[in-house]
Amino acid sequence: MKALMCNAFGPIADLRLEEVPDPAPGPGQVRIKVEAASINFPDALIVQGLYQFKPPLPFSPGAELAGVVEAVGENVKHLKVGDAVIASTMHGGFAEHCVADASKVAPLPPGMDFELGAAFVLTYGTSYHALRHCAHLKAGETLLVLGAAGGVGLAAIEIAKAMGARVIAAASSADKLALCKKVGADETINYSEEDLRRRVDELTDKKGVEVVYDPVGGSYSEAALRATGWRGRFLVVGFAAGEIPKIPLNLALLKERSIIGVFWGDAVRRDPAQHLANMRQLAEWFAAGKVRPVISERVPLSGAADAIARMANRQVMGKVVVLPGA
Ligand SMILES: NC(=O)c1ccc[n+]([C@@H]2O[C@H](COP(=O)([O-])OP(=O)(O)OC[C@H]3O[C@@H](n4cnc5c(N)ncnc54)[C@H](OP(=O)(O)O)[C@@H]3O)[C@@H](O)[C@H]2O)c1
Repeated sequence: MKALMCNAFGPIADLRLEEVPDPAPGPGQVRIKVEAASINFPDALIVQGLYQFKPPLPFSPGAELAGVVEAVGENVKHLKVGDAVIASTMHGGFAEHCVADASKVAPLPPGMDFELGAAFVLTYGTSYHALRHCAHLKAGETLLVLGAAGGVGLAAIEIAKAMGARVIAAASSADKLALCKKVGADETINYSEEDLRRRVDELTDKKGVEVVYDPVGGSYSEAALRATGWRGRFLVVGFAAGEIPKIPLNLALLKERSIIGVFWGDAVRRDPAQHLANMRQLAEWFAAGKVRPVISERVPLSGAADAIARMANRQVMGKVVVLPGA
């Protein structure tokens, strides 16, 4: 089969499209014919050896995918050959076939095609977990989303609107902010041109926002934390800017603010029942037209490395889907 291979941790440009043997499912696993897979920011980190998890080499990146079960290992009860499924795999998705633990494989939700299915679980799962279980976002509260036109950012906007919140989307260009408005943001801030804190003050009558969703880090984080009001909650989601900010803790004391870490992957492992309930809620919202991944590009396997590099360089909006059959 064809697969995008990482043979050594290093530059994204070193990824190679190669012919490799088809993988065989072991006990508790299935093999899936990959119809679509999607790119997430952690793919760029994993191949460079910069992620908290390092797969054994060589490996194919690609953490989420959708396709059809074509072989079933021993002890797999809930899946059979021919099932249309979605899977979260950490790696292996940018290939024509992929082996996944059956526990990480679920039926393709009703009404979803393979492209949407491949672009759903990681971003929407993360943002729903963060807003519902970490921030306890309530209807009527105001949420500030940084990196709002990215994968988890757009999902956060849609989910917060579905939960009845007001959303201020912050991103670095007019195009990105136009997309945020299209998916439901109430207000926008171009943080490469405007002062984030001052603009939030203007938009909230100086009260500040109740919750910040921060997948970006770097210099925006402190300004966003200062833009929260009394007992504001600040969600630490990621560091796409590459810099882990160091925050003066007096900012927490002064307004009884909370700084809350979000680690979706571990939350799923620790509480699989909660994860299933979360996915049921998200599938309901999808069926009701309240949430829907924005697929901005479709690329063949041969274009996947370039797309990962563009995501790492801030040049992507929404989700890029990789189509191994194209
Ligand atoms: N904690 C968790 O459980 C969890 C789960 C999933 C993902 N994450 C993390 O969330 C972050 C976002 O993931 P994603 O898949 O949504 O990525 P994405 O689609 O690339 O979005 C990231 C956004 O960050 C902004 N950004 C600012 N400076 C950047 C820079 N120097 N390089 C790249 N982007 C920059 C960009 O928006 P602007 O250009 O508008 O600033 C971009 O749209 C990543 O750090 C990822 O590891 C965390």
